[in-house]
Amino acid sequence: MEKPAVTEHPIHDLIRRRWSPRAFTPTPVEAEKLASLFEAARWAPSSFNGQPWHYIVATKDDHAAFERLLNCLRPQNVQWAQHAPVLIIAVAQLAMSPERGPNRHAFHDVGLANENLVLQAVALGLAAHQMAGFFPDKARATFNIPEGYEALTAIAVGYPGDPENMPEETKARELQPRERRPLSAFVFSDRWGQQWTTEGGEEE
Ligand SMILES: Cc1cc2nc3c(=O)[nH]c(=O)nc-3n(C[C@H](O)[C@H](O)[C@H](O)COP(=O)(O)O)c2cc1C
Repeated sequence: MEKPAVTEHPIHDLIRRRWSPRAFTPTPVEAEKLASLFEAARWAPSSFNGQPWHYIVATKDDHAAFERLLNCLRPQNVQWAQHAPVLIIAVAQLAMSPERGPNRHAFHDVGLANENLVLQAVALGLAAHQMAGFFPDKARATFNIPEGYEALTAIAVGYPGDPENMPEETKARELQPRERRPLSAFVFSDRWGQQWTTEGGEEE
């Protein structure tokens, strides 16, 4: 299923078509394609080129590893993410180095890498769905994530599936229209809250 963004202004087709489905087909993701997702993440920009991103990946063909990662997700995500063939946890390194102290942009930069990964997935005919709904402490214990690193986001990846076979509630969410605040609510000029317009000049 596709759910392209209805935009106020033209955007790149990849961005328009990216969305967060919960329905996946059981088709495994080719190892080469999976490697391309991490390659895309690798080439994200980052503050001082600190590259704070790390990933833990589990594919369904390794049943035990997949179950271990699945068990770190919150139940409401397990319900649909169990059907995705790939699960990932994105981890941030919190300091550039022990000497340089905290990296204020670590989370920001892992987000950039994640979006690269997600858009690369769309380009390859895949879909990726990010999740805050997981237990970071459980992920730390399960995968030996060291101090100084923090599990930030889980990501389900696979080929988008048919929502028809989903439980009613999940299916209804899947079919809901995608919504966003208008540009006027978050792009300001001159001062905070002052709408920026393409025409220039102030608005009442
Ligand atoms: C950091 C992050 C955490 C998210 N956590 C969850 C989650 O735990 N469960 C879920 O079903 N969706 C989750 N989402 C998906 C968002 O709900 C989704 O991106 C948002 O509703 C916009 O929809 P779209 O991605 O289809 O455009 C998360 C997305 C992001 C970026």
